Amino acid sequence: MATITVKKLLKMKQEGDKITMLTAYDASFARLLDQQSVDVILVGDSLGMVMQGHDSTVPVTMDDMVYHTKIVSPMCQYSLLLGDLPFMSCTSPKQAIKNATRLMQEGGAHMVKMEGGEAQIENIAQLTRHGVPVCAHLGLQPQSVHKLGGYFVQGRNQKVADKILNDALLLQDAGADMVLMECVPVSLARKVTQALDVPTIGIGAGRDCDGQVLVLQDMLGISAKAPSFSQDFLTGQSNGIAGAVANFISSVKAQTFPSDAQCFI
Ligand code: KIV
Repeated sequence: MATITVKKLLKMKQEGDKITMLTAYDASFARLLDQQSVDVILVGDSLGMVMQGHDSTVPVTMDDMVYHTKIVSPMCQYSLLLGDLPFMSCTSPKQAIKNATRLMQEGGAHMVKMEGGEAQIENIAQLTRHGVPVCAHLGLQPQSVHKLGGYFVQGRNQKVADKILNDALLLQDAGADMVLMECVPVSLARKVTQALDVPTIGIGAGRDCDGQVLVLQDMLGISAKAPSFSQDFLTGQSNGIAGAVANFISSVKAQTFPSDAQCFI
């Protein structure tokens, strides 16, 4: 069992201690993040772009996710390990149970993440009944890129913003232990964070979330094209990758990251 637990994340929200999360897809980076005491390591399906070179996360399979989660998990002594459920891997409670079981039993994940709003209520309720911690992913859902027609900020229009807030409440009621919001306006992320008892994690969602996540390669400045809400924490500091990670952690804790320029309004 890692030092960081779901209970500890809840306590961090209650005490206003910002939660740090970074992605890792292999043992070397996972060890480094764990040693720097990143609270949560996410084996995200972003590995489809970062590791596999695809232009979306759609091609990522359950076998890919299990493989990468499995090679990261032995390194998670301190950090809670969050495993991502990929495209079309949780379209029914039965399938969600099957694939969350794979991520936890074969991969060693401590918690699973799934994209989707109210369509995931039954799946989250079923996982919760069986003792599986779940992080719901709202706002921009990259697995829906072909439906959306691109990667855009979500919730600028009032109707969509109301739906995101309502979905967050419904998913919390269904048992979600954490809600991740991607690319939503600051005011909406603040509203959701204030309305929920469980922690929120933002990526392109402003400083008011209970924590922040970035894709590791984006924050090291080595992605082909890092998003505007990210930051290169490596360039210009002397302690290499460990220093960049420490810099990310202290910036999130001090709420100097994200800056206004890295937020959407
Ligand atoms: O897959 C991933 O890395 C993610 C983050 C972008 C939050 O879902």
